[in-house]
Amino acid sequence: MKILVTGGLGYIGSHVMVLLLERNVEVLCIDNLDNSRLEVLDGIKKITERKPLFKNLDLKNKSETDVFFKEHSNIQGIIHFAAHKAVNESSKKPLLYYNNNITGLLNILDFSIKKDIPFIYSSSCTVYGDAKSFPINEDALTSNPKSPYGNTKLMGEQILKDCFNAYCKFKTIILRYFNPIGAHPSGNIGEFPLGTPQNLIPYLTQTVIGKHPFLKIYGSDYETEDGTCVRDYIHIMDLAEAHIKSINYLISAKNKKMYEIFNVGTGKGSSVLDVINAFEKVTGENVPHKFVGPREGDVPIAFADVKKINSKMGWKAKFNLEDGLRSAWNWEKEIAKKS
Ligand code: NAD
Ligand code: UD1
Repeated sequence: MKILVTGGLGYIGSHVMVLLLERNVEVLCIDNLDNSRLEVLDGIKKITERKPLFKNLDLKNKSETDVFFKEHSNIQGIIHFAAHKAVNESSKKPLLYYNNNITGLLNILDFSIKKDIPFIYSSSCTVYGDAKSFPINEDALTSNPKSPYGNTKLMGEQILKDCFNAYCKFKTIILRYFNPIGAHPSGNIGEFPLGTPQNLIPYLTQTVIGKHPFLKIYGSDYETEDGTCVRDYIHIMDLAEAHIKSINYLISAKNKKMYEIFNVGTGKGSSVLDVINAFEKVTGENVPHKFVGPREGDVPIAFADVKKINSKMGWKAKFNLEDGLRSAWNWEKEIAKKS
């Protein structure tokens, strides 16, 4: 099998490529290194003893993207990760986000549709905005994602829906990830954010290793059990596995057309304080923290109803919050050794 992974050197893509290579899939990877490093390929090689075929390519560049596709035929599936993903930055630079996330998607979809190649799209629980009932299932309203980033994800879903309506052989799966955390158990790949991380777990592990004086907890009087925001933290290895299941589901499906949406989470909500307590318990480290005001755009609660992906694909998270935090901490220590 030959699978194209866009944004494959990034956090989620690199873990998915490992699972594909371990299954002897031929993997092509496109990335423009905008938010990743070439060394990721060495980490992948250490784990799998193989490397994907890598092309440094910006998907916004239509002519170069077309040349790539002319050179590489027989692709049987596309997993599209390439996008900008920083929620805060997207509010300050909306055009950067619309341009990258939408143009890249359109350029690659053009090829997928011409060649009838099944397509997996990385969406996000952010499309649910401020949901009103929990756990959130796939039929919940998707409105007001609260940031230009979230809007690009929702627009992407709409574009795919329109393609499904228009083309008789278009097959796509949309995966709405909740909050991915952790790293490969080998410590050879993980989340390696360029610049100061905005997300909770990398900021927390960087704080504990000494890069920041304390973790800011955004908000203490949300209507949750302990007043801090609740999220569904999904281990990166579980999330990666959901892509393998999706590829199999898409390729083996008998129907010629497909447009299906799946949540990918654990189904369990954990507050920021739960995360800190769990981290301290599994690592024995202290997490210096201070409460500050709420962060603009944060929703109080988001956790997934995962019945659909479980019943249709047989996928279920195997790891828990503690496993994710332990591996995130091991990875932070690996990064410290490298620098
Ligand atoms: P990441 O930034 O680590 O990886 C994305 C990769 O895409 C990077 O390597 C980047 O260099 C590349 N890229 C960006 N624009 C590109 C372009 N125009 N051409 C070629 N390559 C390009 O992000 P990630 O965490 O691995 O996320 C992957 C996908 O999952 C994204 O679409 C993101 O929106 C989505 N997602 C992520 C999360 C999360 O919390 N990590 C949650 C929900 C959805
Ligand atoms: C959001 C989106 C997610 C998106 C991701 C990309 C929602 C529900 N989720 O995740 O879909 O793909 O951004 O970045 O919109 N926190 C702190 N201190 C920090 C950092 C975070 O207290 O320094 C808190 C936040 O307030 C939040 C939780 O930790 O409650 C998780 O935050 P983060 O890791 O940034 O992810 P989300 O904002 O949930």
